[in-house]
Amino acid sequence: MNEMSEELAAILDLPKVELHTHYEGAAPPAFIRGLAKEKKIDISKIFTADGSYAFEGFVPFLRIYEAATTVLQSPEDFKRLGLAVLEEAASNGVVYIESFVSPNFCGGGDVSAWRDYLAAMVEAANEAERDFGIISRGIVTCIRHEGPEQAKTAALCAAETVGDFIVGFGMGGDENQGKQRDFTYSFDMAREAGLRLTTHAGEWRGPEEVREAVQDLGVERIGHGVRAAEDHALIDELAEKGIVLEVCPGSNVVLGVYPDWKSHPIDTLRRAGVPVSVSTDDPPFFHTTMRDEYLNLANTFGWDEGVFRDIAAASAKAAFCDDATRARILKKLEA
Ligand code: ADE
Ligand code: ZN
Repeated sequence: MNEMSEELAAILDLPKVELHTHYEGAAPPAFIRGLAKEKKIDISKIFTADGSYAFEGFVPFLRIYEAATTVLQSPEDFKRLGLAVLEEAASNGVVYIESFVSPNFCGGGDVSAWRDYLAAMVEAANEAERDFGIISRGIVTCIRHEGPEQAKTAALCAAETVGDFIVGFGMGGDENQGKQRDFTYSFDMAREAGLRLTTHAGEWRGPEEVREAVQDLGVERIGHGVRAAEDHALIDELAEKGIVLEVCPGSNVVLGVYPDWKSHPIDTLRRAGVPVSVSTDDPPFFHTTMRDEYLNLANTFGWDEGVFRDIAAASAKAAFCDDATRARILKKLEA
């Protein structure tokens, strides 16, 4: 091995912290196909001939994603999914991961059904920590294009189950529908229950959407937020307030937010002092892993080991877990 590839290998092997993944979105296509076969559900049209998820662009992605979730029908399905996903993340060096999970896909928003699904996810989390050494936590997520009433149901599920595992509340879905402020009731309910807050913003809409997320919902982290890079005053505001961006560069490139890696603003944001973290979003959909994200970032921006270590430490600081857990994560990062 030459010197560069040794340095790169060391970077890829670093312990990592991931703050932005979707529980269902991390399901490998083979896993979903297997469940579909067991349950005799025909979702063959969501796959390409070579077995990948078939979509081009954001809205088709959301539709395929939702079709894939239709085979996840029981707490046991979520436990199996959780174990598979956490094993894969751990094999990428991820020592701590936060996943978005929607009560919509876990019993349709009914609190009692949600408790059963959650118990299964907690079992998966505990087994994965024991067997693979990965610590995980959940962020209950409402779905923007399902509207504010559905969000209240999700927020109620979150508020009723805040605790060791459920540590946050957030919103994903189609950013081009409605406004952040349509969801203030749900975010207020979640905050009052003691949950930490994040929302997808500035993935599709511009800087104004990021401003509204901070002002109208009072979130302390932003999912994506990359389009903030188009507004210098906003960059300064995010840096000053220490608002953390959950950046998912591979997702942005595959979905077409940016045409290629070198056009991605993560390095510009980081250099301007905005706290950035690095995540995979929905890794099998975007043909990525945390190692792939690190590889592309190192190759595109010349980041060295120090940059990646700083980002992992900043991500641990921004994690929604309690401080005792944070101390355990920081210990893993020193290894
Ligand atoms: N749900 C899963 N992935 C998403 C993304 N990238 N943006 C919005 N909602 C999502
Ligand atoms: Zn996301």
